Amino acid sequence: MTLLSRIPLVMDVDTGTDDAVCIAAATLCTDRIELLGIGAVCGNVEIEKTARNTLDLIDFLGCEAPVHIGASRPLARPLCTAVSHGTTGLGDVALPAARRGFAEGGVTELIHGAAKRHPGGLEILAVGPLTNIATALTECPELLALIKRITIMGGAIRGGNMTLASEFNLYCDPEAARIVFESGCALTMVGLDVTLKPELPRHIFDRIRAAPGPQADVVARVLDFMMRRKDEFGADDPNLHDVIALAAIVKPSLFTFESYYVHLETGGEVTRGMTIADFNNVSKRPPNALVAVDIDADGFWDWFVDLFGAGK
Ligand code: BDR
Ligand code: CA
Repeated sequence: MTLLSRIPLVMDVDTGTDDAVCIAAATLCTDRIELLGIGAVCGNVEIEKTARNTLDLIDFLGCEAPVHIGASRPLARPLCTAVSHGTTGLGDVALPAARRGFAEGGVTELIHGAAKRHPGGLEILAVGPLTNIATALTECPELLALIKRITIMGGAIRGGNMTLASEFNLYCDPEAARIVFESGCALTMVGLDVTLKPELPRHIFDRIRAAPGPQADVVARVLDFMMRRKDEFGADDPNLHDVIALAAIVKPSLFTFESYYVHLETGGEVTRGMTIADFNNVSKRPPNALVAVDIDADGFWDWFVDLFGAGK
């Protein structure tokens, strides 16, 4: 049996209920990834909250990855926060305050340091607005040659969740998204085309609730908040967007991918942050993204419950 080498990974998050699920899952993927650090960005809530939520969560999970504070506003616009993560960003989940502080330096320093230690091998998982990633690529152009791939939860080649055509993360900072999509870095786009497909079934929720360990504990509490939103406000079954982008890294066989040149639209009432795939090669530009277009939803839930030790 060939052992796969671990992927050196930096995460960038706007924690965020589903970001918290993604982070907890990542800390359980130690056979596949080496988590080098986490950057926080403003998005679902303000940076003070996303950073604090991330640090408290990581500490609660007993993970030693450093947490770096990133951008407090999008590159060219005021911040628009999301409505579905509660006022703190973690719904009504309360965590003990972390016993350690934030790491020195911003997210550019985190990515640059990690990329120098793993030249050509570093992967980035970005599950919030792309402000930190665009800033790092702009401030350190040499990163282009050092980063292996950036996997993005964001966009959609069909539909949206902020407007008819745009998804929250890219809508939040479309100028940053444009920089990243035009950067020349290898990108994987995990958008709403796949993240809306697995809707949390009640029996999966019940299994996570019965599973042992701090990861299952905190994820069960986040999912409980999501389930109550559904029951109380008639929302759809919860979607776990960000952890699906993690699955695209550690379990890519669950997905169907297609390569496209993806144009990032920055303006317009409906089109701000819209991702447009060049299906007919009108632009004559080479593909800039591997786009996840389908997912084996049952296989995803099997992977998810196994990860949390929630068994069959
Ligand atoms: C994305 O937006 C945020 O609200 C979620 O955390 C996820 O990253 C889904 O559109
Ligand atoms: Ca997020």
